[in-house]
Amino acid sequence: MSDAPRHRLPGDPVPAAEIARMLRVDHAGEFGATRIYQGQLDVLQRGRGAGEIRRMAEAEQRHLAAFETLLREHRVRPTLLHPLWSVAGYALGVATALLGERAAMACTVAVEEVIDEHYRDQAERLADADPALTETILAFRDDELAHREVALAQGAADTPGYDPLSAAIKTGSRLAIWLSTRL
Ligand SMILES: [Fe+2]
Ligand SMILES: [Fe+2]
Repeated sequence: MSDAPRHRLPGDPVPAAEIARMLRVDHAGEFGATRIYQGQLDVLQRGRGAGEIRRMAEAEQRHLAAFETLLREHRVRPTLLHPLWSVAGYALGVATALLGERAAMACTVAVEEVIDEHYRDQAERLADADPALTETILAFRDDELAHREVALAQGAADTPGYDPLSAAIKTGSRLAIWLSTRL
């Protein structure tokens, strides 16, 4: 037998520690999303887009509740950065809302595009190793893509400074994912 490193093949089990990291980062992300929308709603309560933001926030609450259950079932602790994401998510929501409704929507587009990649990677990795979790992740990914469409329809891309704003939020979101996977 050669002792060359063996690569994982489709259908091979995904190690429990890796699934734990996935659940932890997904829980962190959905929590962050609820905090972003809370911040936006506190600023834009009576704005034109408040109804849409509220509907998206409700979806994030459902996603968060699902990952809370999964964390309990798998006996996985939340990220140590949970308190930080509470503050950072809320601050991002408030800051983008203060720039205006379109900037708030641009924030949603940027975050959802990062989450789309993130969930797609996870679903590919899990595939038939955990079909139930894969299905959950793909269903949530569909919701996130729908949020992206809603935000674009609300004029997200017309925000002054859309490109740098979007790039900064994507960088922050990727950093948050990277950190929450490790801590
Ligand atoms: Fe979500
Ligand atoms: Fe979303």
